[in-house]
Amino acid sequence: MDFDRKALIRAAMEARKFSYAPFSKFHVGAALLTKNGEIVTGCNIENSAYSPTICAERCAMAKAISEGKREFIAIAVVGPEDSHTTPCGVCRQVLYEFCDESLVILCGGTEENYMETTLGALLPKGFRL
Ligand code: THU
Repeated sequence: MDFDRKALIRAAMEARKFSYAPFSKFHVGAALLTKNGEIVTGCNIENSAYSPTICAERCAMAKAISEGKREFIAIAVVGPEDSHTTPCGVCRQVLYEFCDESLVILCGGTEENYMETTLGALLPKGFRL
C-alpha cells in the first residue's frame, strides 16, 4: 500500500502531545488514514477509576466514525520513542469492526524507528458476528 508513512507517524507524534496519562505516564498518539487521504488522530485518555481509560487507537476510531469516515487504509500508533508500541487486544478488535486484515499498522517509535505490520498479522481469525 502506497502512502506517506512518515507523515502518518508524524501525525501520531503530534497527537501524542495531547495524551492524558498521569497514572501510567505511558503517552500514546494514533493517526488513522482514510481511503480519501484524510488523517484522524487520537491520544490515550486515562481515568482515576482506571477502567474508563481509552487508548489512542480507539480515540481516533471513535472520532473518525463520529465524523462519518468509515474506510481506512492504515493507522500509526506511537508510544515511547524507544519502543514499538502495538495496539492492545481490545483496540485490535475495534479496528477489525471497521477494517479488514489488510489494514497497515505502523508501530512506533519515531519516523525513523517503527515496525510495520497488518491487522491480519496482529489479529488472526478475528471475530465477526
Ligand atoms: N495504550 C494506548 O493508548 N494504546 C496502545 O496501543 C497500548 C496502550 C495506553 C492505555 C494506557 O493509557 C497506557 O497506554 C498504558 O497502558
